[in-house]
Amino acid sequence: MTIDEYILSHTDEESELLRSLVRDAGVNLLRPRMLSGHLQGRILKMFCRMMRPRRVLEIGTYTGYATLCMAEGLEEGALIHTVEINDEMEDFMMKYISRSPDRDKIRVHFGDAADVVPRLGETFDMVFIDAGKHQYTAYYEMVFPLVRPGGLILADNTLWDGKVAEDPPSSDKQTAGILAFNETVKRDERVEKVILPLRDGLTMLWKK
Ligand SMILES: C[S@@+](CC[C@H](N)C(=O)[O-])C[C@H]1O[C@@H](n2cnc3c(N)ncnc32)[C@H](O)[C@@H]1O
Repeated sequence: MTIDEYILSHTDEESELLRSLVRDAGVNLLRPRMLSGHLQGRILKMFCRMMRPRRVLEIGTYTGYATLCMAEGLEEGALIHTVEINDEMEDFMMKYISRSPDRDKIRVHFGDAADVVPRLGETFDMVFIDAGKHQYTAYYEMVFPLVRPGGLILADNTLWDGKVAEDPPSSDKQTAGILAFNETVKRDERVEKVILPLRDGLTMLWKK
């Protein structure tokens, strides 16, 4: 047994709904690895259990995998707004969201997060940034004023397959975007931050 298998076998299981979503994504989607997956999904749910957010924002829905995991951890009356630019994902994600016992806690919005989020008119207790890597700093600056003090911002893929620590740094746009984001938040004294070396790197930012 590998250590990853050991971790998963001693972590809460995914629901049957999530398992069928993952199988379906593996067969029918081009980039199934973009979805959060078993371990990160259970961690996102646990963050919701611990933070007890009333309002959550996710930027980048894709299949709805992480949305469903976070919704599982929300209390009655709490909501997750999730924003996806690619409306071709609608049929896939709605197939699963509509079958979830937590569907009433989920609001899906299609469009560019830069346009959609300011129009939601909400403040958030928790935000999960997981969309275009070259736009991470822009997403961060957009959501920061909408997060209440004491709220949590999570940003996925902040180690970007280890490319952030390469010397010389890779100059591709996505790596540059992640590097710029990591430098911005490192200098930002309005937040306490930790990069969890989970999967592809998950940065936790706690707003003072
Ligand atoms: C890594 S996937 C999201 C995975 C999902 N959060 C999860 O953990 O299961 C990133 C998604 O962000 C979407 N996206 C990219 N740019 C966006 C933007 N500006 N606004 C909203 N969604 C965007 C992409 O179409 C893609 O579906």
